[in-house]
Amino acid sequence: MTDFKYKICCMGAGYVGGPTMAIIAKNAPHIKVTVVDLNQTQIDKWNGDKLPIYEPGLDEIVKAARGKNLFFTTEIDKSIEEADMVFVSVNTPTKTNGIGAGRASNIKNCELCARTIAKVSKSSKIVVEKSTVPVRTAHAMNRVLNANTKDTGISFQILSNPEFLAEGTAVKDLMEPSRVLIGGNQDAGGLAAIQALVDVYANWVPHERILTTNLWSSELSKLVANAFLAQRISSINSISALTEKTGADVSEVANAIGMDPRIGAKFLQSSVGFGGSCFQKDILNLVYLCESFNLPEVAEYWQQVVTMNEYQKTRFATNMIKKMFNTVTGKRICVYGFAFKKDTGDVRETASGTIIKIMLDEAAKCAVWDPQVEREEMLTEFKYTHGIEHSNTPRLDDLVVTETDPYAAAKGAHAIAVMTEWDEFKTYDYQKIYDSMVKPAFIFDGRNILDHEALRKIGFEVYAIGKTVSENDPMTC
Ligand code: NAD
Ligand code: UGA
Repeated sequence: MTDFKYKICCMGAGYVGGPTMAIIAKNAPHIKVTVVDLNQTQIDKWNGDKLPIYEPGLDEIVKAARGKNLFFTTEIDKSIEEADMVFVSVNTPTKTNGIGAGRASNIKNCELCARTIAKVSKSSKIVVEKSTVPVRTAHAMNRVLNANTKDTGISFQILSNPEFLAEGTAVKDLMEPSRVLIGGNQDAGGLAAIQALVDVYANWVPHERILTTNLWSSELSKLVANAFLAQRISSINSISALTEKTGADVSEVANAIGMDPRIGAKFLQSSVGFGGSCFQKDILNLVYLCESFNLPEVAEYWQQVVTMNEYQKTRFATNMIKKMFNTVTGKRICVYGFAFKKDTGDVRETASGTIIKIMLDEAAKCAVWDPQVEREEMLTEFKYTHGIEHSNTPRLDDLVVTETDPYAAAKGAHAIAVMTEWDEFKTYDYQKIYDSMVKPAFIFDGRNILDHEALRKIGFEVYAIGKTVSENDPMTC
């Protein structure tokens, strides 16, 4: 057994903890990296053949390092105890009850981690806040960690090291990060801790991409980064409503404005609405913080990003119904994509779920096809985000079916709704699909990825985000 000189433990084996630690293990073979979680099933999956998350390129990296310097276990206390540095990478969902419900982030898991670390540690450690948290959470973590260290010779240094990876591109984002942000106390102990974490990343990240700041700038930058990214999507989505009324084309507008280097081309893809576990959560958290600091105008400004996203989803579903002769009752709607974006199996807060919920409220039947999403995951998302479950929707298994291929999903459908931008959706035999559908056959492209002209030639009635069917016939989708 190798005698490792430096040991890292990561609490939380999720979408961030697993990939982040796998990349550290790959690039720093002299560091022992142990990822722990309360959830035995999750850990078993990380140790098994099929990893718990789908992320291109991750399998090979995990399998190459696993058992060498990368370990997954539920032995939490032992792994913390032997570590020099402990990352906290647990979920921080929006609070569902109590003060700030529906907006504030719940940092209970972070506090629990701090309490566990404080309880089991027999030596000093650096604790790294990797989760996305409200600004000044490090202060609370620090107090919990150091509450009982007097006269023990043990001390804890807290760092903020938010993660900027996006799902579907996590491996690339981690291997070649735009920047690594490390915030810490600006005293001798804090600066030494910052340096220790810089040394970990310096194994593969160029020094000029490692930024160090004070704790609060680091914590806040994470929320602001997500708010700015989501704001761009809501901005272009707001314009999509206008282009549909005017005969302009949202893709052409995005291209025209994005060529200005001051604006930039990225994150201007108009869509049915952003999803994912973080954008909405983090903006609501920012809004709540602003309200807490008595900045109502600032809070209202950022709230509008979420409001616009809700509007876009509802607008899309409403127009589907309108175009299908104002009724979808009893109609089969084929849904292409349930993941919140391509190249991931993650379904948290997916726009697809909202559209299906609206279709179910109108008594339609949905046939869902997604290349990566398991039915169980879909049902979990329905339950937690939309309150739909067998107990209140007895015919759920009949109303929402999951198909194992795109052709079966479309067969007998009145419409196809493209909800995720999976590349493979562009490659299907749409003539074959058209022939198997009820006529008129509709396609509602919520991602603007299909060849609309080719589909119209086949005979489909096609509606897309931010585009008009012809100059004389605004589609108002
Ligand atoms: P996740 O739900 O996938 O994983 C969190 C894991 O933490 C779960 O497996 C859970 O069982 C475990 N956990 C909870 N409490 C624990 C405890 N006390 N001890 C040990 N394990 C515990 O969450 P995620 O998507 O990895 O997100 C984690 C954090 O990172 C969040 O704050 C999120 O906002 C942030 N973030 C996420 C992404 C992303 O792409 N998903 C990107 C950047 C930042
Ligand atoms: C996002 C950020 O991009 C990451 O930097 C951040 O670390 C992460 O949130 C987080 O904190 O969790 P992620 O949610 O994984 O990453 O994926 P994105 O690529 O940002 O997409 C988010 C949503 O916006 C998806 O539903 C996507 O389809 C949608 N989107 C994205 C658009 O509708 N249009 C675009 O132009 C870009």
